[in-house]
Amino acid sequence: MDDRSPLPAAPAAPDSLLRLARRLAADVEAGRPQRGPAFEIDVQRYLDPQRFAGELAVMRRGPVILAHGSQLPVSGRLALDRLGLPLLLTRDAGGVVHGHYNVCRHRGMRMVEAGPAAACRNLVCRYHGWVYGLDGRLTGVRHRDAFDELPAGLRAFPVVERHGLIWGWPEAEGREPPHALEPWLSGIGAELDYFGLGDSVAFGHYEVERKSNWKLVVEAFMEIYHIASLHRNTIDRFFLDSVAVSEPAGEHIRSAVGRRSLSGRSPDAPLDLRNDCTFTHYLFPNTILIVHPDYVSLVTLWPTAPDRVGWSHTLLIPAAQNNAAMREHWEKSFRLIEQGVFQSEDLEACEGIQAGLLSGANQALHCGRLEHAIGGFHREWDRRLGLAAEAAR
Ligand code: FES
Ligand SMILES: [Fe+2]
Repeated sequence: MDDRSPLPAAPAAPDSLLRLARRLAADVEAGRPQRGPAFEIDVQRYLDPQRFAGELAVMRRGPVILAHGSQLPVSGRLALDRLGLPLLLTRDAGGVVHGHYNVCRHRGMRMVEAGPAAACRNLVCRYHGWVYGLDGRLTGVRHRDAFDELPAGLRAFPVVERHGLIWGWPEAEGREPPHALEPWLSGIGAELDYFGLGDSVAFGHYEVERKSNWKLVVEAFMEIYHIASLHRNTIDRFFLDSVAVSEPAGEHIRSAVGRRSLSGRSPDAPLDLRNDCTFTHYLFPNTILIVHPDYVSLVTLWPTAPDRVGWSHTLLIPAAQNNAAMREHWEKSFRLIEQGVFQSEDLEACEGIQAGLLSGANQALHCGRLEHAIGGFHREWDRRLGLAAEAAR
């Protein structure tokens, strides 16, 4: 039996992706890659602590993608330190996901150590033994008669599980999301379904802190001008030189990069969306999704300082192909993309840039016409930071 075959039928490709892929194919045929205006970026964008504080505040408001659903088992917990907040995800016996602060209501002890998810029936604080259900409710207090009023449970923040992903609003109180997810996704929800995220499992996961402003990392995924140089020994052989299209989708940016099979094909031949192009979406505020031919890289960025970022990469594979026969293939894929490409090439470059920013060699960074998607990313952030500043006045 072919181990690649038993996949659930994919939903029809959304028009938004078909349109983007057709534009890409037309650009290849015309030999004219999408271009925008050239522009400059002030280096203070990557250094200014005030701007950084504003960015962190926007991210804390959410929604941010905290995990793939498969990373949190039924009757399980997952502690995540994100954006300077100790967060705790749980999934109760009924499969419902809850978001809480990882902080005991008694005298503030950290409830669960960070690390991979674990199965559990409830949450017990190590300090004095208070017990909470997986829905966060306080269910047990030793020497109950020593207390008057007791809190109802852990501080909750809203989470929803959609399109295979767990989205959270870390700073919002309570359990109700402050706004609906779907309109904010601006059509990208249907694309996530098409990419099969709901039928995927997390095969590999890697986290590391790198010495770079988080925006430099986003930028590395927003242009492919660098592929033929930085990635010449790794992934360059899969891609056309500097051919990509992108467009805003609400606060997000959807984009598609041209793969070599696009060149020389007959204009009437049907497009193979996963093999003729690689979708690389930016989901506001801190997520990059790279849709490889047979798996998906979910990258989330968690800034800790203007010059430090926590990198988190989860390799998502079709659940139907999570078997012994395919294991070696997935392990090799993860090793090559995570260590061989992302860590050794992209993030290495970001650290190199960050180290040079303070030297004063450049007052500004220069982006050419092929790097226009980066401009859209910065403009959206300017808009959001401006709105936040206005709201604070
Ligand atoms: S701090 Fe948690 S039980 Fe006392
Ligand atoms: Fe790259």
